[in-house]
Amino acid sequence: MKLPLPVDLASLAKVILSPECKNICILTGAGVSVASGIPDFRSPGGMYDTLKPELLTASAQEKRYMEQDPTYVVTWDIFRNNQFPYMEVRRPFILGTRNHQWKATIANRFAELLHTKTGKLRRIYTQNIDGLQRQCQDIPDETIVNVHGTISKAGCEHCGHDMDFDEFCNQVQTKIKDIYGVDEKAPSESTPIFCEECGKAMVKPKTVLFGRSLPSEFFECCERDLPDLDLLIVAGTSLVVSPANSLVYKVPDTTLRVVVNNEPVGMELGIDYNGKGPGCRDFYAQGQCDAVFLNLIQELGWLEDLKQKRDELPPASIQLLDSANSG
Ligand code: OAD
Repeated sequence: MKLPLPVDLASLAKVILSPECKNICILTGAGVSVASGIPDFRSPGGMYDTLKPELLTASAQEKRYMEQDPTYVVTWDIFRNNQFPYMEVRRPFILGTRNHQWKATIANRFAELLHTKTGKLRRIYTQNIDGLQRQCQDIPDETIVNVHGTISKAGCEHCGHDMDFDEFCNQVQTKIKDIYGVDEKAPSESTPIFCEECGKAMVKPKTVLFGRSLPSEFFECCERDLPDLDLLIVAGTSLVVSPANSLVYKVPDTTLRVVVNNEPVGMELGIDYNGKGPGCRDFYAQGQCDAVFLNLIQELGWLEDLKQKRDELPPASIQLLDSANSG
């Protein structure tokens, strides 16, 4: 059954709480983690915008490719020949993950509340490798699909053998140079991290490189979740990377689609920001993810529940929450 199209966050809250809305999936991208201090990929100041190929341990040709297309740094094509560019770019993210540097945001906590308060969250598909969604321990493990893998585990891209994450981090610290100039103890040159099993220099975090397959779980869950989905919430993603972005057109025509983002995305995939009339099923909640989800949480009557997690939020989210309290 098609749900009514919301006109604002108050009416979206009513739709979510209505008995007609039974199944909800969420698709997230880097924008939901920005409030925790992790930059996204494609915004100004994001990972691709700030990539400096000249600092990386790479051949002249590899540097040229990265200059032409910064996404080349996270491709199988470069990694299979040269472990260093990926590892050098990701060094602080790997070591920060070991140190629990980043905390789940209000957007992450919204998914958790949706599960605990309604039981309607069927799945959260996250393209993020930061593991923030998994910090929300009230969400069952199987409800989260890490579409592009995770930075908090390490393994060999050649033979699949896992390396203990602490051991991996120790090697990253002592063998991979610091292109960001923040770690005085880092080596001045990078040397390879070898797989303990096959001996190849192909150990890396268990993330999905462009040109490699997504986990089979992604395809299996899509097949199960999408055919009778009532509501898809898309948050903090540019929707430019497939097949993660395919969720928006794989859901039935009757599925309500809500986009939470600071810019309109997915027009080429069929998201319609100007639609009117009975066929229209896309609602755009423009803004910063944490601010939008905080408002939605308020409309849903869950603010007190969110406040119980206040001290587990990152500083920017705490500030936002406190200003909502006083305002
Ligand atoms: P992108 O950087 O491509 O897109 C982030 C989107 O969120 C953009 O539309 C931003 O404008 C928006 N945004 C940023 N901060 C926001 C905030 N605080 N509130 C609301 N919107 C915000 O990141 P992804 O879509 O996640 O894959 O990127 C998809 C994939 O491309 C990643 O998983 C990664 C990358 O290459 C691989 O590496 C395989």
